[in-house]
Amino acid sequence: MTLQYIDNELTMHGHRLKDIAGEYGTPLFVYDETMIRQQCHRFHTALQDSGLNYTISYASKAFSAVQLFNMMAEEDMGLDVVSEGELYTALQSNVAPERIHFHGNNKTDWEILYAIESGVEYFVIDSLDEIARIDRLATKQVKAVLRINPGVEAHTHEFIQTGQEDSKFGLSIKKRLALEGVRQIEAAEHIDFMGVHFHIGSQIFESTGTVETVKLVIEWLKENDIDIQVLNIGGGFSIKYTDDDVSYPIEEGIKTITQAVQAACEAHSYPVPELSLEPGRSIVGEAGITLYEVGTIKEIPDTNYYVSIDGGMSDHIRTALYDAKYELRLVDREETHDKTMTIAGKLCESGDIIRRDIKLPASIKRGDLLAVLSTGAYHYSMSSNYNQMVKPAVVFVSESGVRPVIKRQTLAQLIQNDII
Ligand code: LLP
Repeated sequence: MTLQYIDNELTMHGHRLKDIAGEYGTPLFVYDETMIRQQCHRFHTALQDSGLNYTISYASKAFSAVQLFNMMAEEDMGLDVVSEGELYTALQSNVAPERIHFHGNNKTDWEILYAIESGVEYFVIDSLDEIARIDRLATKQVKAVLRINPGVEAHTHEFIQTGQEDSKFGLSIKKRLALEGVRQIEAAEHIDFMGVHFHIGSQIFESTGTVETVKLVIEWLKENDIDIQVLNIGGGFSIKYTDDDVSYPIEEGIKTITQAVQAACEAHSYPVPELSLEPGRSIVGEAGITLYEVGTIKEIPDTNYYVSIDGGMSDHIRTALYDAKYELRLVDREETHDKTMTIAGKLCESGDIIRRDIKLPASIKRGDLLAVLSTGAYHYSMSSNYNQMVKPAVVFVSESGVRPVIKRQTLAQLIQNDII
């Protein structure tokens, strides 16, 4: 991240964040475009070094925006979508439909038809029921991979774990549902079976779970005589929110995983498939920050020091939802972080907190700007209009300048669907 204090003010690529906030207003999402591109390069290089055939799809749920998708097209990334809305957004971008994968544990008939008509590359089938529905609805041959549930528990927050046996995602290997799924796809008239997919969770900082799953899956494929072209291992690579976190070591981790794929295939005399990855958070997470303006400050003697900002859980839900922790910086000046305080949102809910008990400069006052770091993934995309808050604007910053990517919502848009 190219955040830096220059002349005692926080800047990104040399652009003063205060000026950017002045132009676009707060709350504001600011992304380091160069860093997003670098993350794509890191995954590409690590995979190229492995010698395997591979594709990378950006998991668009992390942050969906047409300009971001255009950047993904430039960086040779495909896209994963899980809803008609994500597909619609993706189709407005330069990403070729045949680089889009359609996910979801409850695709509607309409979504299936829309995806087929749009020419997506493949479906990630998530249930037995979906196989029959796609086969019935398909007007032409479609491709699919089957999402299997390996029954491997990733070490992460329970709400973002997906590989455990009791999960709404995928078909269980252990309960033989996965095998049944493969056989049904192979027998389906309009579906070409391409391979299997798993995603064991998110914000995973080491490769052990993935390696274990790769071994288990290859062994299972061999045992059951299942031929695949694609092995899709999902996303879930961690980012650094605070000093207690580790960003997934992309180069080393991908090396470990790709070697595990090669070794498992060799051990079972199984042909090495094309490897697909679906990183979301690790592409955009650390590249994004949120800028807020400080408003009311309330001191409760011997209890807490509340600093309220002009957004909250409508643009920052992860603290309330996952008890997530963030680092903050004072934009206006660089000073020692010497006072413990709680940064609160302005929404009508006690849980509307950005960060509890964090040390920041004691001089913080109304009108100052605060930057919350690592908010590039699952912030804008999980934002809401709770309390009729308007969604913030989004800008991209690079060496060459600052460009608007999404406009701030207007008050009129808040009631545009109201029947008055
Ligand atoms: N592939 C599949 C099938 C997924 O379900 C996900 C995330 C990804 C890829 C991308 O995972 P990533 O690389 O971004 O970790 N709202 C939660 C995260 C939910 C993730 C859902 N699936 C959060 O804010 O932490």
